[in-house]
Amino acid sequence: MSSEQNKTFFIETFGCQMNFHDSEKVAGSLVSQGYRQVQTVEEADLIFYNTCSIRDKAEQKVFHRLNDYKKLQKQGKQFAVIGCVAQQEGERIFERAPHVSLVAGSASYSHLPEMLVQIGRGERATGLDDRQTDETFETEFTARVSPHRGYITIIEGCDKFCAYCVVPYTRGRERSRTVESVLDEARQIVQGGLTEIQLLGQNVNSWADPEGKHTFATLLAEVGRVPGIRRVRFTTSHPRHFTRQIVEVLDAGPTLCDHVHLPVQSGSTRVLTAMQREYTRDEYLERIAWIRQAKRELSITTDIIVGFPGETEEDFHQTLSLMDEVQFDGIFSFKYSPRPNTPAITMQDAIPEEEKTRRLNVLNEHQREIQRRNYQRHVGQVVEAMVEGTQHKLGQVPGRTTQNKPLNFTIPEGVAIPAVGSYVRVRVIRAHPNSLVGEMLAAEPTQ
Ligand code: 5AD
Ligand code: SF4
Repeated sequence: MSSEQNKTFFIETFGCQMNFHDSEKVAGSLVSQGYRQVQTVEEADLIFYNTCSIRDKAEQKVFHRLNDYKKLQKQGKQFAVIGCVAQQEGERIFERAPHVSLVAGSASYSHLPEMLVQIGRGERATGLDDRQTDETFETEFTARVSPHRGYITIIEGCDKFCAYCVVPYTRGRERSRTVESVLDEARQIVQGGLTEIQLLGQNVNSWADPEGKHTFATLLAEVGRVPGIRRVRFTTSHPRHFTRQIVEVLDAGPTLCDHVHLPVQSGSTRVLTAMQREYTRDEYLERIAWIRQAKRELSITTDIIVGFPGETEEDFHQTLSLMDEVQFDGIFSFKYSPRPNTPAITMQDAIPEEEKTRRLNVLNEHQREIQRRNYQRHVGQVVEAMVEGTQHKLGQVPGRTTQNKPLNFTIPEGVAIPAVGSYVRVRVIRAHPNSLVGEMLAAEPTQ
């Protein structure tokens, strides 16, 4: 028996869904090497932090964690920092936190086994990428955490270089997986008992077929046709590469969810140009018009940054007016945070912190009103919900509509509580700005 077989690890993840899914793959490949995953730092021999550096606050979290647990090194525990902060800070992490023995960016995860041997010998190990790699991290061992959704990374890295964004520097250049490997993974997920799939990529629709036959849209259609699949989602789409063909494929594919996440970032063409987003306000609105022309109603969500350097009150008002025009079903809103290595860090006319906070509050209040009306429209409808969890204390079961809206529902007397991952029909009876409330219909679950 090798010593790895006695070793335990704990992994904590920060950041986006890509990171959460990377952790599932890292954990799976460690388990396949004989390590055992545990749920607390105390039980672990090896502690992994899978980190995010999208905004300064996210980055600081990992250094707080490392500081909190520094004393555990004396008990022989080893620390590994992986993910975006690892790639960004590299060996500087050893200076800031000398108790760390492994630092690895996401483009080097396939080399983790060798790195673990190295730290087992008491050496330090690093796996850092210089945007050269064309490797993707594919493993047949994925420790899937979600009981109802299987994630598949179809494209890693980012070649977009938006002026504010750290991702091209932390996740390396774009590498797309082959259609066959994506479809194989989809079939495996179904065999494992899941019927919902989410395709992932920093720019999921920049996916480029290594064999040159498919577009992102036709890949999406293929995934939707895998037998046994009921719901397919995809994030994140970049407006520059969002085609009419994607909408046609959504129209033709009943398993493809009624939702598009299309980050706009700003409603002002001037700011979009400064951000190097490669589209104008009008081009973004043109894509929204395509989505609105779909045969079934698709929900649209977005990401918005306020307080980008040089953003005037007029620019900000253009973002508010774009929100009025589009009537988003949901937004993720952020205050601009200067990031190392990015072009925006040297830009003039920084917006003061208090002003960023004011704009963020105005923006969120504006969206709340839009969403209050948007969610209210569903009252009275009967919709399909996927069951995402077990019954809350209040007696409600958490579910989600195909439009990606949370729908918590009660169960009629005498009806069994539906299993996580099953689908039920629910009548919507109330709406909040961020969730719907309903009653499950007495009929049996649709699956
Ligand atoms: N500051 C604030 N928000 C950012 N995002 C990306 N970089 C930054 C930054 N430097 C936001 C964008 C992106 C989302 C994932 O995070 O809106 O779409
Ligand atoms: Fe954070 Fe971006 Fe890295 Fe995801 S890709 S973990 S959001 S920095």
